[in-house]
This record gives sequence, structure tokens and C-alpha cells, in this order.
Amino acid sequence: TDVTDIQALIKKAETTHELSKSEIVTLLTDNQYVDEFFAAADRVRRKYVGDEVHLRGLIEFSNICKQNCLYCGLRRDNKKVDRYRLDTDTILDFAVKAKSYGYRTVVLQSGEDECFDVDTMVNIIKKIKELGLAITLSVGEKPREVYQAYREAGADRYLLRIETTDKGLYEKLDPGMSWDNRVRCLKDIKELGFELGTGCLVGIPGQTIESLADDILFFKKMDADMIGVGPFIPNPDTPLAAEIGGTFELSTKVMAMTRLLLPDINIPATTAMESLNPQGRVLALQRGANVVMPNVTEGEYRQMYLLYPGKICINDTPAHCRSCITGKIQGIGRKVSETHGFREKRA
Ligand code: 5AD
Ligand code: SF4
Ligand code: FES
Repeated sequence: TDVTDIQALIKKAETTHELSKSEIVTLLTDNQYVDEFFAAADRVRRKYVGDEVHLRGLIEFSNICKQNCLYCGLRRDNKKVDRYRLDTDTILDFAVKAKSYGYRTVVLQSGEDECFDVDTMVNIIKKIKELGLAITLSVGEKPREVYQAYREAGADRYLLRIETTDKGLYEKLDPGMSWDNRVRCLKDIKELGFELGTGCLVGIPGQTIESLADDILFFKKMDADMIGVGPFIPNPDTPLAAEIGGTFELSTKVMAMTRLLLPDINIPATTAMESLNPQGRVLALQRGANVVMPNVTEGEYRQMYLLYPGKICINDTPAHCRSCITGKIQGIGRKVSETHGFREKRA
């Protein structure tokens, strides 16, 4: 039977890493013991993944997207974005620089841009692997064969957020896309031996706390290796311009719950969290997170990769972000990792 006493529930989550859906809902709804809840997530983070923070250098290499997600600034119907795609040499140049900043992983992220065909991506992946870096891809839905080619070329990890496990809501917000196909992608990615990263948006219109509880149980069921959670931030140039959006508080609660139930995975303090709260990433690192993804894209491209308004670092250089984030991490007594930061399954 379900535990209803909040403090007992926090203890159950911290010690067993198992909760029922209604127990998750109870904890996500509670406002009385939030500090204890976050402290428990911080202890679990420390016990399972330690004090090191893994930095992943993010390269936003194309803001061209064939999809039309209602929440996203890069959606194809948004005519207000100046579109760009980096050429292979520029991407490799940014990867070399990421290495020079000490990053051990680069994340290659883009919209769903068909121009980057399999051969182009495989070539980029192979060249970056020659630098000794781990590679995370975040380039959307592809057929299994394409994922397999990326994997064989040497890509280590793949990020594809489920966004929401509410299929009806997903298909309303991502018109023309199929929730079942997205799950197919996640299963293929996992089976092909990538570290699987997924995650959700918090505060999209029509989402409930029950649905967020389902999201967390879904992460567990998929045995995800990384989970990125971020608040939905309404973008004025999208159909969801007038919506309310998610809060920093609730998104960190969902993140902390994820840490309690998937204790040994990698969890980023997300850029969207810091966009809502100037201390957002440091707070997230103290509520369960152990990863940060500093941007290593240079020049005018940063301003053009605008998923939502208020995105941080759009006028900063990679070198500035590197010292900024290092200072923040050391400022809370944590350490920048020098390893590749793969998931280590621990009991
Ligand atoms: N607010 C917050 N996050 C967003 N994303 C897209 N649009 C927004 C927005 N308006 C997130 C999606 C996507 C990731 C790359 O960015 O979750 O998976
Ligand atoms: Fe494209 Fe991703 Fe934005 Fe959807 S969320 S429009 S797939 S970039
Ligand atoms: Fe970019 Fe702080 S991480 S300015």
C-alpha cells in the first residue's frame, strides 16, 4: 500500500529508489518538505555519481528543422529566424576548440536538417572521434539504419527527449509526428548500444502532475542513461506564445525525483533552468544534477539558435563560458571531471 506521510515517502525514495505513480504525485505536489526532498536527491547524487561535474561542449550546428513543434522557436513555420548550417570544417574546428577547453565530450545538436545526410554525419563523427572525444548526438528522429551507421562511426550517446509521455498531448504539440515512432527511436538507440538520453518538458499546456509522474516512470522503464528536464518557456514567435510555461521550482522537482528513482544516471543542470533563474544551474547541481553542457558554438550562431526567449550565454564566448561555469562549480565545492563521464552502473 502507498505511503502517504511525506517524510516517510522521501525516505522510501532515497533508500529503495522505487515509488508508485501516486507516491510520485504526492511528492511532486508537496510544498512543505521541499527542502528535505531536494536534500535527499543531493545525497543520492553524491552517493551514486560523486562530486564530479561532467562538462559537455555543445555545438549547435544547424538551426534548420523540418518539424513544426508548437513550442519551439526553430519550428519550420517560424519565418523570423535567420537559418544557418555550419560546414564540416567549422564543426571540426569547434570540436578541436572544445577539446582545448578541456571538455571530454562534444554534443552535436541541430534541428531535423535533412542536408546532413548519413555520409556527412558519419564523416564528422569519425573525425571528432580521432580527437579522443566522446560524442553525443542530438539530431532527432531517424530510421534504425541511420542510428546504426552513427553508432558504427563511433558516436557514444544520443539525446532524444520524449518531451511528454502523454501521447495525445505529444501529437497535438508536435504536429505530424508520431509518439510511437519516437519510442521506436529510443528503443533502437538503446539496443544499438548508445548511452540513451531522453527527458521531458515541464509546464507545457495540458500537462498534469500525473503525466509528469508517468514521464519519470517511463525514464525508469526505458533504463535511460541520461535525463534532461527543463521548463517550457513560451516563445513569442510560436503558436504557444501566450501560454504560461513551466516554473523553475517544478522542473527541479521533476529532476530531483528522477535522481531519486534513477540514482546512477547522468542528469544535466539545463540551460532552460538557468534561463528562468540566474542561479538555476548551481541550484540544479544541488538538487540532483551532475552534468552541465556549456555552449561551444562561436559568433553570431548562438543568437540564432533560439528555442525560447531569455536563453543564457547568447552573447558570451566559449572561453568565457568555460571559466564562468568552472567558477560556479568550484564555488559550491564540486569538481570538474576529467573523465569522459559515462554512466557507471553502481549498486
Ligand atoms: N522551452 C523550453 N525548451 C524547449 N525545447 C524546445 N522548445 C522549447 C521551449 N520553448 C526543448 C525541447 C527539445 C530541446 C532541444 O529543447 O525539449 O527536445
Ligand atoms: Fe525541430 Fe526539435 Fe524544435 Fe521540434 S523541438 S521544431 S524537432 S528543433
Ligand atoms: Fe556561459 Fe556562464 S556559462 S556565461
